[in-house]
Amino acid sequence: MSAIFALANQKGGVAKTTTTGTLAAGLKKQGFSVLTIDCDPQGNLSMSVAAENQDSATMYEVMKGTVSAREAIQHTPSCDIIPANTILAGIEQELHNVGKEMTLREKLRDEQTGVAEEYDYILIDCPPSLGLLTVNALTAADYLLIPTMAETFAASGITQLYDTYKSVKKYTNPALRIDGVLLTRTERTRVTKTIQELTEKIADYMGADVYRTTIRSNVIIKEAQAVQENVFDYIESKAQTKGERVSEASRNFVNDCLNFVKEFVEKEREQ
Ligand SMILES: Nc1ncnc2c1ncn2[C@@H]1O[C@H](COP(=O)(O)OP(=O)(O)O)[C@@H](O)[C@H]1O
Ligand SMILES: [Mg+2]
Repeated sequence: MSAIFALANQKGGVAKTTTTGTLAAGLKKQGFSVLTIDCDPQGNLSMSVAAENQDSATMYEVMKGTVSAREAIQHTPSCDIIPANTILAGIEQELHNVGKEMTLREKLRDEQTGVAEEYDYILIDCPPSLGLLTVNALTAADYLLIPTMAETFAASGITQLYDTYKSVKKYTNPALRIDGVLLTRTERTRVTKTIQELTEKIADYMGADVYRTTIRSNVIIKEAQAVQENVFDYIESKAQTKGERVSEASRNFVNDCLNFVKEFVEKEREQ
C-alpha cells in the first residue's frame, strides 16, 4: 500500500514542483518505488523529468475516465509519472458529477486499474490554487506536505490552505493529515529568525510540524531543471563525468535535499 502525499500551497513559486521532483528522485535512489502525479496544467513537473506530455495520455484523460491511471504512467530515470499539460485546466469545468472531488482518489484506488497498491510512495504535485484539482489531490492523499518560502506573505497564505484542508477532512477525506511544513528557497544570510518563528507559529496553529531540514536557495536546481535531470544525477555528472567544478554552495544545497529525504523517510507516521 502506498503512502500518498499531496504537495500543496496555493501560492506559486514556493517549490512545490521542485520538492516533488527532488523528493521522488531521492526516494528512488534509496530503493523505494515512487510515482509522481502532475496535477498542475502548467506541466512543470512533467517537463522537469522529460515526460512526454503532448501525444501521450495525461492526467486529463485519467480524470475524464477515458484512460486508466496505470495506462497513463511513464517511466523516467527520476521516477514514474502521470504527466499533465494545459488541457488539464479544463477539467475543473468538465467534471459535473456528484462526488467529483473523489475522482482522483477513485482512479488511484480502483481495484482493477488503480496503482495505489503498487508503489511505496505516490507524490502529487498540486497547482497554485485551491480549486477542484487541489481538492482532488487532498482527497486522494493520506498526507499533506506544505512547501513554503521563508517570507511573510508566503507564511500567512498557509491559513487559507488550512481552511481547504479542514473542509476536505470534513467532507471527503477524514483520514487526511498534515505531514509537515517545509521551508524552501531560504537565504541563510538573511534568515530570518522571524520567519522561522512565524512559520512555526502557523504550523502550531494547524497542529502540524515544521520539518527540521530547510532547503536553501541555489542555482544548481535551475541548471538541473533546464536539462531535465534530477539534481542528484546532475551534480554527479557535472562533477564526475564532465569534471566541472561544483561550488560549495551547490553541494550544501544537495545535502539539504538528501537530509530532507532522510528526514521524510524517518518521520514516524501512524498507519
Ligand atoms: N532551493 C531553490 N533554490 C533556487 N531556486 C529554486 C529552489 N527551489 C525552487 N527554485 C526555483 O523557483 C521557481 C519556482 O519553483 P517551483 O518548484 O516551480 O514552485 P511551485 O511549483 O511552487 O510554483 C523555479 O524556477 C525553481 O527552479
Ligand atoms: Mg509547480
